[in-house]
Amino acid sequence: MDELRHARPAEPRYGEPKTFSGQLMSSSNQRVSRFDLGTFSVSRLGFGAMQLAGPGVFGPPRDRPEALAVLRAAVEGGVDHIDTAQYYGPDVVNDLIREALHPYPPGLAIVTKLGARRDNRGGIVLYDEPHQLRAGLEENLASLGADRLAAANLRLVDGAPADTRFDDQLAALVQARDDGLIAGVGLSNITVDHLLRALALTEIVCVQNLFNLADLSSLPVLQECTARGIAFVPFFSLGSGMRGPNPVLGDPRVRTVAARLGATPAQVALAWALDYASNLLLIPGTASRVHLAENLAAASVVLDAAARRELR
Ligand SMILES: NC(=O)c1ccc[n+]([C@@H]2O[C@H](COP(=O)([O-])OP(=O)(O)OC[C@H]3O[C@@H](n4cnc5c(N)ncnc54)[C@H](OP(=O)(O)O)[C@@H]3O)[C@@H](O)[C@H]2O)c1
Repeated sequence: MDELRHARPAEPRYGEPKTFSGQLMSSSNQRVSRFDLGTFSVSRLGFGAMQLAGPGVFGPPRDRPEALAVLRAAVEGGVDHIDTAQYYGPDVVNDLIREALHPYPPGLAIVTKLGARRDNRGGIVLYDEPHQLRAGLEENLASLGADRLAAANLRLVDGAPADTRFDDQLAALVQARDDGLIAGVGLSNITVDHLLRALALTEIVCVQNLFNLADLSSLPVLQECTARGIAFVPFFSLGSGMRGPNPVLGDPRVRTVAARLGATPAQVALAWALDYASNLLLIPGTASRVHLAENLAAASVVLDAAARRELR
């Protein structure tokens, strides 16, 4: 058992868990269920901050005041789980989070991912040797102005084997946790083999893989996480970043259900995910307060039996 679980100070500071027995209200005043992300209890409607950077997730945002306002509105609306990375911008998104939200409220779970960095032209290059993972984490802490994060995900490249190199990468994150820089270790873009191999070595608090109505290929990973009570955090839950026209928001099943329930396609996509498994934590991304409010209000969209059948 992780010692951090037992080392709760009387007065939580940022980076420490808050004890939370109830449910938060979203901006739509609906109850949003919660789930544990390691030592943190978080609303299942979180926020992915990647969209706050400029085009191509590189450089400054088109509308900086709006980006800051989105972050503040997210937290005011009940979001207490924010996903980020130093390589968004780079540093642009972390700087925005710091400017908008620092000093961070106790219990706000900021989660980053490690394994890549940006070159001068915006290209993504690997930064995933064990010492680079540690350096990447320290760069995140510096730009966020934090001593400790709720978790860091070891972000693997497509097709990475579950081998001794993976063990060494994981060991770097375990060391960072033991040194108090993160409360929990997470994994991203993984297979069930990675998860089982990692669990033989240490506790894993979250897994972040692509998962949405149009791409269920990570279902075995989700099921393994569900069986073990590990938070599963899908990225691209609104179908962004996938080939061709948006396969989620443009899905005829989603559009039909949305029209019948008086909801938007984005809300149906999020409600479907919330309904799918109780350990699933959403991090939809947006750079707009209008879309943010719409996404938080997905908590009030109840899928009836007919909708569940249609979306299956
Ligand atoms: N682990 C990984 O490898 C990995 C990879 C990618 C992303 N991520 C994480 O996952 C998070 C989510 O990913 P994402 O933001 O790329 O994809 P997403 O959540 O599927 O979709 C975001 C896109 O949908 C639009 N959108 C948001 N709300 C909407 C609404 N209500 N109606 C219509 N369009 C809406 C946004 O545009 P507007 O800004 O115009 O609203 C944005 O273009 C990221 O922020 C990041 O933290 C992780």
